[in-house]
Amino acid sequence: MRSALTLSAIATASLMVLAACSPGEKTAAAPEAVEAPAAAVEPAAPAAEAAAPAAGPVIQVGGLTGDATKGAVVFNQCKSCHAIEAGVNRVGPTLHGVVGRKAGAVEGFRYSAASKASAAVWSEETLFAYLENPRKFMPGTTMSYVGMRQPQQRADVIAYLKSQS
Ligand code: HEC
Repeated sequence: MRSALTLSAIATASLMVLAACSPGEKTAAAPEAVEAPAAAVEPAAPAAEAAAPAAGPVIQVGGLTGDATKGAVVFNQCKSCHAIEAGVNRVGPTLHGVVGRKAGAVEGFRYSAASKASAAVWSEETLFAYLENPRKFMPGTTMSYVGMRQPQQRADVIAYLKSQS
């Protein structure tokens, strides 16, 4: 009887050793498994950068925050007719320093009668209304630009214009 007990004790002990060994093997393989999620995290980093706020000077108009950095891109819609450099008139007058300027005031530019007669001053607010629908704001203007529907784009381009004075 004693020898039978001893045998069974040895058998149990061996099973325990086997059991202790297999988790050991799994642990050895674990570091490889950990590396994969670490690599999967990397692509998220550029997305976080893109979501960072732009660094341009900002203005408040129409209840929105206009960003000059974004407005510089929106200004591409104006470049076919307007230069931002001082003294450069094209189809339209230079827009250098336009924020705060009286309408129709650029020397040497041939404005429409509507522009010359206008009492408007190009504040952020008047530009916000004008750019949405130039002909509605100033009937008779020769600016043949349909207007900018998106309020955010208007706020951004006005921030850009203000930064260029
Ligand atoms: C197709 C040509 C054209 C495009 C595009 C255009 N403009 Fe003009 N813009 C003009 C002309 C021409 C005038 C002069 C209007 C007049 O005399 O009635 C003018 C006048 C203006 C004025 C008044 C300037 C002043 O001295 O009184 C502002 C401000 C202005 N444009 C802003 C813009 C902005 C911002 C954009 C782009 C979103 C733009 N324009 C796109 C042709 C254009």
